[in-house]
Amino acid sequence: MTTSATESKTKPVPPQSVPVLAADLDAGLRRLKLAAIRRTAPEVLLTAKTQRWTPEEVLRTLVETELAARDASNIVNRLKAAGFPVTKTLESFDIKASSIKPKVFDYLSSLEWIRTQQNLAIIGPAGTGKSHTLIGLGIAAIHAGHKVRYFTAADLIETLYRGLADNTVGKSIESLLRVDLIILDELGFAPLDDTGTQLLFRLVAGAYERRSLAIGSHWPFEQWGRFLPEQTTAVSILDRLLHHATVVITAGDSYRMKDAKHHKEDT
Ligand SMILES: Nc1ncnc2c1ncn2[C@@H]1O[C@H](COP(=O)(O)OP(=O)(O)OP(=O)(O)O)[C@@H](O)[C@H]1O
Ligand SMILES: [Mg+2]
Repeated sequence: MTTSATESKTKPVPPQSVPVLAADLDAGLRRLKLAAIRRTAPEVLLTAKTQRWTPEEVLRTLVETELAARDASNIVNRLKAAGFPVTKTLESFDIKASSIKPKVFDYLSSLEWIRTQQNLAIIGPAGTGKSHTLIGLGIAAIHAGHKVRYFTAADLIETLYRGLADNTVGKSIESLLRVDLIILDELGFAPLDDTGTQLLFRLVAGAYERRSLAIGSHWPFEQWGRFLPEQTTAVSILDRLLHHATVVITAGDSYRMKDAKHHKEDT
């Protein structure tokens, strides 16, 4: 492949004064997988020399660089593993336009409930910010170092159903429970059959007092019989879910409609 003249012109030219890292150090850092130190060491060493850093300062700068790079890549990996359908942040949630009380929102944003394995249930009609809040909290939790998985109830049950076929339900529930926060959205959009209800129970029971579960649903608890036909199990699910839980009821018009109206007014 030939390099065009424009390409070679735009290529950054390394400043002449930054020395290349000694080959043995470069190889050693590569072997130790200290990529960020390997990348920044020449510049850090030069700065350290010109600014007369103490040896401890040099070491600290290199260690901090590596740690920051690892934290950033861990966040990227955890975000991927969480399976969020879209990106929503707590910062982009307009609390004034929502029926969620600022105090409750602040408490949830503190993530204290995740550290203490408590649950969250957000109940309310379409477009009132349930998914936005759940995903925003999930992303904040990941930035705080937690592991998170997002599922719609339909996807979760489908995944567990697949495990029934090859006898791996127990395993897949265990692997789900390795995360700190399981978000189960759109619970009740479609009714569950008896087996689906049993599978949901196994997950809720497994998470009980061990992991945080955050659910979003249209249905107030007294109407959960509409999508959980097996009443005894439905009661057992609710009992465990709500024992240590914050319940948030959202209300009002759909934000989607508000958005649509604004667009109309804009045109
Ligand atoms: N208070 C808010 N501030 C900013 N955006 C909001 C707010 N409430 C809702 N939205 C936005 O409106 C849209 C619908 O919100 P969301 O998906 O959270 O609704 P929902 O309650 O989950 O609805 P459904 O029950 O239909 O799933 C999203 O794009 C979301 O980002
Ligand atoms: Mg939603």
